[in-house]
Amino acid sequence: MPRDPRYDILFEPVKIGPVTTKNRFYQVPHCNGMGRLHPDSMVAMRGMKAEGGWGIVSTEQCDFHPTADTTSYCETKLWDDTDIPYLAGMCNEVHKHGGLAAVELVHNGHDTGNLYSREVPIGPMDRPVTWLNHPVQARAMDREDIRAYRRWHRDAALRARKAGFDIVVVYAGHDGTMPSHFLARRHNQRTDEYGGSLENRVRLYRELLEDTLDAVGDTMGVVARFAVDEMMGPDGLEWEGEGRDAIEMMAEIPHMWDVNVADWDNDSMTSRFAPEGYQEEYVAFVKQVTSKPVSTVGRYTSPDAMVSAIKRGIVDLIGAARPSIADPFLPKKVEEGRIEDIRECIGCNICAAWNNVSAPSRCTQNPTFGEEWRKSWHPEQIAPKEFRIACAGGRCRAGRS
Ligand SMILES: Cc1cc2nc3c(=O)[nH]c(=O)nc-3n(C[C@H](O)[C@H](O)[C@H](O)COP(=O)(O)O)c2cc1C
Ligand code: SF4
Repeated sequence: MPRDPRYDILFEPVKIGPVTTKNRFYQVPHCNGMGRLHPDSMVAMRGMKAEGGWGIVSTEQCDFHPTADTTSYCETKLWDDTDIPYLAGMCNEVHKHGGLAAVELVHNGHDTGNLYSREVPIGPMDRPVTWLNHPVQARAMDREDIRAYRRWHRDAALRARKAGFDIVVVYAGHDGTMPSHFLARRHNQRTDEYGGSLENRVRLYRELLEDTLDAVGDTMGVVARFAVDEMMGPDGLEWEGEGRDAIEMMAEIPHMWDVNVADWDNDSMTSRFAPEGYQEEYVAFVKQVTSKPVSTVGRYTSPDAMVSAIKRGIVDLIGAARPSIADPFLPKKVEEGRIEDIRECIGCNICAAWNNVSAPSRCTQNPTFGEEWRKSWHPEQIAPKEFRIACAGGRCRAGRS
């Protein structure tokens, strides 16, 4: 069937700095419990999304230095050049289908216990590490540490370019990244130029964006992934307060804004508590303060809701994590006029639960997710069940395997 013309807008290209996405479907970063540990599974899973029509396909958070070692979580890593080949494999799979490959660089700051690398964790303040009750202490970064951290991030962006990525996502969200730790008053009581006023607390993120643009911005899109509201009232960033002020201060710096809410449980909220498009009220102001393309998330599975968000001037791109897991072929189905075939994400968050126990993730609606490589399963090409002859006790009978 031909595409319904009311969805044409979803297939318009969007320029992100020096690169252009073929459509407005952006598979935002999402972990999957495969990452560096099961690279073939990770690569095939991302490739499937590109085959299904997503214009941008991103890695999950990709830690770029041993002081940000996320063990025991299974995520992508880009510590040195030996990490390039498996990520290049992902880029090749995405490019094969005309998509842009994005990498989300992360340093989880005082969240990571560095259980594998045994490096001393670092962050804005001296404090205990927060994840999984790791019995380790993080040390406050001095100016030399900050300079080194910026250099590691820059080197990682250059390495990402070598791997073939088209976009670098600079990540300040989920209360779990170095820039978001610096941004939060509750984590940052520094008295130097990186603490105190919002301008000071945002300095590190601004520097990272500028460093990345300087290093690779001539050939790669630089996307700011930024949580504008932490949903904890005045104890955190609020979209009507410092969240908005921070975006205004940096409005024209990145090539694109990818905005959402924090913490992760608010961002990936289950369907019991949040309808489709639930983040719009928090992020609607962003397009009013920047001329750059804007994307958000909110378990978008309906092309009508997507078109509406674009036409109401809330976003330019539709970000999706869970909808792209439940149906890697969502964009293609819209394009081919088969919207009734879309396998909708039901917002149960089993995908997140599996990831959180460091196991390859799974989806209640798409059993092929995570099995694209290991079992060669394809979400749209399901082999008929084979008949086998089972013999027991001298009697044979035919049956489904
Ligand atoms: C299993 C899972 C893992 C995620 N991992 C990341 C991540 O590594 N980096 C990130 O920025 N966001 C991560 N997210 C958040 C998503 O990018 C997204 O912002 C959120 O799920 C809301 O979008 P959705 O409603 O389309 O799922 C993750 C989400 C899920 C469900
Ligand atoms: S496991 Fe549940 S929340 Fe996750 S993608 Fe599948 S349907 Fe959506």
